[in-house]
Amino acid sequence: MLKIAFFDSKEYDRQSFEAANKDGEFDIRFFETRLTPDTYKLAEGCDVVCVFVNDDINSFVIDKLYEMGIRLIALRCAGYNNVDVEYAYGKIHVVRVPAYSPYAVAEHAMALLLTSIRRIHKAYIRTKDFNFSLEGMTGFDLHGKTVGVIGTGKIGRIFIDICRGFGMNVIAYDKFPAADSGIEYVSLDELWERADIISLHCPLTDENRHMINATTIDKMKKGVVIINTSRGALISTEALVEGIKDRKIGAACLDVYEEESNIFFHDYSNHIVNDDILARLISMPNVIVTSHQAFLTKEALSNIADTTLANIKEFTGTGRSLNEVCYKCGKIADCRQLHEQKCF
Ligand code: NAI
Repeated sequence: MLKIAFFDSKEYDRQSFEAANKDGEFDIRFFETRLTPDTYKLAEGCDVVCVFVNDDINSFVIDKLYEMGIRLIALRCAGYNNVDVEYAYGKIHVVRVPAYSPYAVAEHAMALLLTSIRRIHKAYIRTKDFNFSLEGMTGFDLHGKTVGVIGTGKIGRIFIDICRGFGMNVIAYDKFPAADSGIEYVSLDELWERADIISLHCPLTDENRHMINATTIDKMKKGVVIINTSRGALISTEALVEGIKDRKIGAACLDVYEEESNIFFHDYSNHIVNDDILARLISMPNVIVTSHQAFLTKEALSNIADTTLANIKEFTGTGRSLNEVCYKCGKIADCRQLHEQKCF
């Protein structure tokens, strides 16, 4: 029976994967720890490792997994920036779940936006304390505002549809604009200048790390609202904090944070958090942080488990998977076509 070393597991993962594996086809070993250079040995004796967004699959880990005979890394997420896919190329294949519920993430982005601009987070706390004052609660209408969407893939397009439902004007930037989509694509500079709200829905790559930084914030409208449900390092957090302190940025809605890997998904309510930048952000009344939970719906968890196990079954059975990724994917059109549906 195929043995899967399942890292960074939470109770909800266990429930959804046990339901998907109800016939007992796979021997899944659940580990609460993340996969890191210190924990890779837990995968000894397994055939596949299954990882999530904050596991650290660097060149050292890849070498160690390869020495153990592991030939497949099954990501149970869409993004794969935490895997050194270039180093893995030729050694270990990487499969992912390209879409599990784009609705979950797009809806969470809108939930964050509405919460922020209508001060729901503050109202919730006030009325719990029987404080019914409206001082400081003035929001603004979304209707007629311009939203700039960066990344018009599955999630970005659903977010655009939601925004249009609110009567917003949509402009977008994508490295690979979709033809005939009816989306008004603009340059990044134009997007920074025109958008009242900016929402990030593109993957994190070497070229767009810190795409929101002091220089780009300078080009934005005063009072702009920034939403990030993609990857934390798309934003320079230090520049974001400065932008908020300067009153240039009106609000930030963050489901991801560039230094989240040792913090998010854990309970630090009885600890002093050492990350001063995160602590500063959380202390600001116009910042909402959720801990990478945009994906977390019943539908998404079930889809993640089904697709991850299907990917593993398909790859170990046939040696190929339509959900394989490599560092060339996206750079070379149909890179997998060159190798009969395999990346290498
Ligand atoms: P997708 O692959 O369908 O769409 C991504 C879009 O970004 C594509 O249209 C692509 O052309 C565009 N793009 C690529 N590089 C770009 C660049 N440098 N600048 C601008 N656009 C660029 O991906 P999907 O499913 O819409 O997911 C988007 C991102 O959302 C993922 O990469 C992931 O980081 C994040 N995500 C976050 C989750 C959460 O729980 N917070 C859950 C799932 C995904």
